[in-house]
Amino acid sequence: MNHLFHTVRIDLGSRSYPIYIGAGLLAQPATFDAILPNGPLVIVTNQTVAPLYLGPLQGALGHRSCTVCVLPDGERYKTQATLGQVYDALAAAKMSRDGAVIALGGGVIGDIAGFAAATWARGIDVLQVPTTLLAQVDSSVGGKTAVNHPAGKNLIGAFHQPVAVMADLSTLSTLPERELKAGLAEVIKYGLIHDAPFLEWLEESLPLLLVRDPDALAYAVRRSCEIKAEIVSLDEREVGPRALLNFGHTFGHAIEAAAGYGTWLHGEAVATGMLLAAQMSAKLGFISTHEVDRLRDLLTRAGLPIEAPRMGIARALELMALDKKVLAGRVRLVLLKKIGSAMVSADYDPAVLHAVLQQAVG
Ligand code: NAD
Ligand code: GLY
Repeated sequence: MNHLFHTVRIDLGSRSYPIYIGAGLLAQPATFDAILPNGPLVIVTNQTVAPLYLGPLQGALGHRSCTVCVLPDGERYKTQATLGQVYDALAAAKMSRDGAVIALGGGVIGDIAGFAAATWARGIDVLQVPTTLLAQVDSSVGGKTAVNHPAGKNLIGAFHQPVAVMADLSTLSTLPERELKAGLAEVIKYGLIHDAPFLEWLEESLPLLLVRDPDALAYAVRRSCEIKAEIVSLDEREVGPRALLNFGHTFGHAIEAAAGYGTWLHGEAVATGMLLAAQMSAKLGFISTHEVDRLRDLLTRAGLPIEAPRMGIARALELMALDKKVLAGRVRLVLLKKIGSAMVSADYDPAVLHAVLQQAVG
């Protein structure tokens, strides 16, 4: 591995693993060789990513034969039925505990393939090869895997850490612009909740990120992974600080559901959700309205939406109540204590939440 590649480690005892970040990783067979077990390999990908990156990945696997499972593309296929297709491929490959699943794609593929690996033979290795910005900075890291149930997103899932993450930055060159911007929302999230200087860097470097400057993207992915690694290493199963990674997500999930899944991209809903969470933080006196304006400006410059659909307060509260952070019937929200620092709170005046929702969705 040369100096153009960075490695971020997630420290989780026996479940620790490296996140390799760099342009051209798919052309580094030695890295794959060192990580993968000797048994059967099944690559899980989709109809959009396969024509672009299946060939290079198979090249990186060299002489090794593998079964390929190509799924339809889209969040609407993140279902038990699609998961069944992955299990069928694993059965056809005679997958055993000395084999591995390789997830090649965005967060949808990573989550489905990761869950299949978590459950097949009570758990086999999974290598995450994320190809969207959102997957490289967030979903491929940290071991959350899931498929959706009609009752809600990601309801059928498990924590299952990968053996490694290979974030090849070159794959971002083909990513649709809207997907790139959605990924930037999660990058901005890391600055807001954990690293004020990183947020300043993002404000300055946004024009470079939007034109996919390789150095700017490399730093954004690396710093995001470092922050996620630090938080997940402290709290793998989200009993404490990991919940901070859900900043903007409680409002965001309500937006995604109200608009109809697939209408808003996850990152877009998170962007608007972060603005609502920041407004709530300002109304509670933690941050200033100037800082809310600063966030609105950054999201606007990043081409992200800042206005929630007018779903009405009752519907918003109903959808927010489905959040996995609900404890004893109370919606816990991630709020900013200041820029670069966040907290989880159920101890807020409901009238403040009402006021924020009245303005945004009422
Ligand atoms: P996605 O997987 O749907 O990918 C977005 C689109 O980009 C798809 O059409 C995909 O085929 C296409 N694509 C992927 N890579 C490409 C490339 N290099 N070039 C061209 N097109 C490419 O969406 P996403 O934003 O990556 O992930 C969203 C999913 O991730 C959601 O299901 C969400 O629930 C999940 N998620 C999981 C976690 C976690 O911790 N596990 C965290 C955040 C989000
Ligand atoms: N995306 C939030 C988490 O991984 O915890």
